[in-house]
Amino acid sequence: MDNAAKEQDKALAQDHGKPGDKCIMVIFGAAGDLTTRKLIPALYNLGKSDLLPKDFAIVGFAFDKLTEDEFRVKVRKDIQEYTGAPGDCPICDWMMERIYYLTGDFRDDAAYKRLDDLLVELDQKHNTQGNVIYYLATAPQFFAEIVKQLGAQKLTNGENGHWRRVVIEKPFGSDLESARVLNRDIGQVLTEKQIYRIDHYLGKETVQNILVFRFSNGIFEPVWNRRYIDHVQITVAESLGVERRGGYYDTAGALRDMIPNHILQLVSLTAMEPPISFHADAVRDEQAKILHAITPMAPEDVLTRAVRGQYDDGVEEGAAVPGYRQEQSVPPTSNTETFVALKLLIDNWRWADVPFYIRTGKRMAKRVTEIAIQFRRAPFVLFRETPVERLTPNLLVLHIQPDEGISLRFGAKVPGALVRVGAVDMDFDYKDYFGSEPSTGYERLLYDCMIGDATLFQRADMVEAGWSVVAPVQDVWKALPPRNFPNYHSGAWGPKEADDLMKRDGRQWRTE
Ligand code: BG6
Repeated sequence: MDNAAKEQDKALAQDHGKPGDKCIMVIFGAAGDLTTRKLIPALYNLGKSDLLPKDFAIVGFAFDKLTEDEFRVKVRKDIQEYTGAPGDCPICDWMMERIYYLTGDFRDDAAYKRLDDLLVELDQKHNTQGNVIYYLATAPQFFAEIVKQLGAQKLTNGENGHWRRVVIEKPFGSDLESARVLNRDIGQVLTEKQIYRIDHYLGKETVQNILVFRFSNGIFEPVWNRRYIDHVQITVAESLGVERRGGYYDTAGALRDMIPNHILQLVSLTAMEPPISFHADAVRDEQAKILHAITPMAPEDVLTRAVRGQYDDGVEEGAAVPGYRQEQSVPPTSNTETFVALKLLIDNWRWADVPFYIRTGKRMAKRVTEIAIQFRRAPFVLFRETPVERLTPNLLVLHIQPDEGISLRFGAKVPGALVRVGAVDMDFDYKDYFGSEPSTGYERLLYDCMIGDATLFQRADMVEAGWSVVAPVQDVWKALPPRNFPNYHSGAWGPKEADDLMKRDGRQWRTE
């Protein structure tokens, strides 16, 4: 099939909900949290929408010593718990007939031999034509090892018309160097086309809508540039703390956990040029250009353009909550940041001198993810002789979660004899127009992997470019440990230094 025909086929598959290609999906880390809470429910939701192939099987692979029956019972329970499906459910029964389990150590050659035998058997039984997705839902230290072992057993060879794909979860490396090493290691076994680096933000409908909104409407693109836009604010605020993930989180921190992946996806989708098509590489080329155009911070810039914070005790939804250092598995003297704010500049013709302010943190005032585009103010000249003191700038907000929609703020005359201007919002709410289907955000990504569409997955160069953006901040913060942690109370909008960062530029964060 030529490329154009393949693209057409993919488009059709998405339009008409054609099921994914026949395959076996092997999940490494099948007893873990991600599989339980996201992957299994997402597979169930795909099944419910008739998007799973008829010829399909799932193999769970994990350290845990479970029998196949025990694993099936667990999967059924997970589906019920995380999707609300009824106990007696035909799709669950259908899934149970094609679920298998292998206990094994990811470092043990013999386990991969057993996997090989099982794949041969299941391929015949379920007519999956040799197609396999390996989903690495494990701790990151196993990614390279698993790929190496799969390669050694020749389990990744995708010749003779069948395909083998590997999905890799985040974190993809912990800095630029380790990401490069991981790319190099897996690149010795797999071609780039076989690698699907996942970022679950790209599975969110509202994130995908950024492209549709920008490029399917004639009226926004002409003003989407430095002539009309004053600045962009991207907020990913969480009200929860680190919960039970203190052990992992303390080695990562907010910068690594959120910026090079999720937030830079939002930046690149907001700032990219129109791609020449929706083909995977056309879209990703434009995203990558933005990541490369972000001005690298010099060490002295880090001191003025990067802010870190750590939450102290405080209040979350009316209840008293402990500080980060008192959380389970967190050392009482931890200097890990739970909040970060950065001022980024994109050095290209469209965005020169338009700051992109980004912030993310745990235990903030509320859960909200949004992209706010603030336009330049209109000239004041006409209002000099009126009671109006200042015009409110137009603001376009792309609401990603938990509210999903778009709002546009503009000035309107307040009724009355005097000329007064009020700021009003025009709101579009996704669920009012389209309803809302329960979704984990992984459905589309799993489906795309089944049909071989890598548009919503990260390429090697994108991951490395993301790490390059944060590298100077990592270096300076490592050399200069924070002296004022904890520096914001749970339930606040982050530390005062984050407000100061904006104030210095005569701006302020949104807190609505
Ligand atoms: C994960 C991070 O990748 O994303 C978590 O490791 C964070 O720390 C989560 O809470 C946020 O995802 P979402 O979809 O809830 O915004």
